[in-house]
Amino acid sequence: MRAAYASSLQPDAPLSGLTVGDLPFSAPEGWVPVQVRASSLNHHDIWSLRGVGLPADRLPMILGCDAAGVDPDGNEVVLYPVVEDKADPRGYSLLSERHPGTLAEQVAVPRENLIPKPAGVSFVEAACLPTAWLTAYHMLVSRGRIADASTVLVQGAGGGVATAAVALGVALGKRVYATSREPGKREKIAALGATAVEPGARLPERVDVVIESVGAATFDHSMKCAAPGARIVVCGATAGHKAEVDLRRVFAMQLEILGSSMGTAAELAELLDLCASGKVKPIIDSTFAFGEADQAFARLASGDVFGKIALDHT
Ligand SMILES: NC(=O)c1ccc[n+]([C@@H]2O[C@H](COP(=O)([O-])OP(=O)(O)OC[C@H]3O[C@@H](n4cnc5c(N)ncnc54)[C@H](OP(=O)(O)O)[C@@H]3O)[C@@H](O)[C@H]2O)c1
Repeated sequence: MRAAYASSLQPDAPLSGLTVGDLPFSAPEGWVPVQVRASSLNHHDIWSLRGVGLPADRLPMILGCDAAGVDPDGNEVVLYPVVEDKADPRGYSLLSERHPGTLAEQVAVPRENLIPKPAGVSFVEAACLPTAWLTAYHMLVSRGRIADASTVLVQGAGGGVATAAVALGVALGKRVYATSREPGKREKIAALGATAVEPGARLPERVDVVIESVGAATFDHSMKCAAPGARIVVCGATAGHKAEVDLRRVFAMQLEILGSSMGTAAELAELLDLCASGKVKPIIDSTFAFGEADQAFARLASGDVFGKIALDHT
């Protein structure tokens, strides 16, 4: 079957290890094969091509965490990408880390990882939700306890997680501030209903929740913008994982710095319902045909992205 996979790991030139070609379909016993109708890319796929979280002895590895498709009974489904994994220190792995990923004609998952796709959400929209949008939802709702918050700051707002956090924060009725390095992206953020500022800019008020996926480049600003008792929720470190932390600010302001990883299958179902209700719509930067996966990766790696990059497999 056709697949987009990591054929070699290149820390400094990740796209040179990407191959689009034929690989056999394989699945652990008892897992359900799904015909993929749409998938989407995440920064995770670039990390994999760099060899972060993907050792060379697992190559070739089909990339991709996110997909929507059709199961053997004809049901339209969305794949929850988190699989129990006793060999992993986290206790789980994501599709494309130990088991083949979603950028292929078919992918297999345990039956409990199949979530019904609401009819009002397209395959492409649904395929944008399982990683970046679920991560943003879990960061806001569960880790950030947004129900008790009035204000949110989202750093690096052009990215997949960050655009989701902006859209969800606005849909949940919060005042959302967001930083982006790009004036064009700031205009698009403002159109979503958030107040867009340059990285490092002083905000008109301190915020209750900060959504951090950028890392070292923005972390000090995140700390300075935090209101007393604020939750700084960290899911990634695209721009460096060694940030300086002023501990005086942590104790004086009683801040909580919280790690966050993915979300639950139940949260993915809630997110799909929220989309089906029309309260929020996935923000899609661009959709490529599956055969153009290399172009889609080049766009993701360029950083010049606003929202998700999807692949249409039909
Ligand atoms: N823990 C989890 O469960 C989980 C799940 C999903 C993602 N993640 C992680 O979260 C991060 C974001 O993922 P993603 O898929 O949203 O990535 P992405 O779409 O590539 O977005 C990254 C964003 O970071 C900002 N950025 C990059 N370099 C920067 C710099 N030097 N200074 C300031 N901002 C910079 C950019 O925003 P602007 O261009 O707007 O400034 C960019 O759009 C990744 O590190 C990923 O591995 C973790």
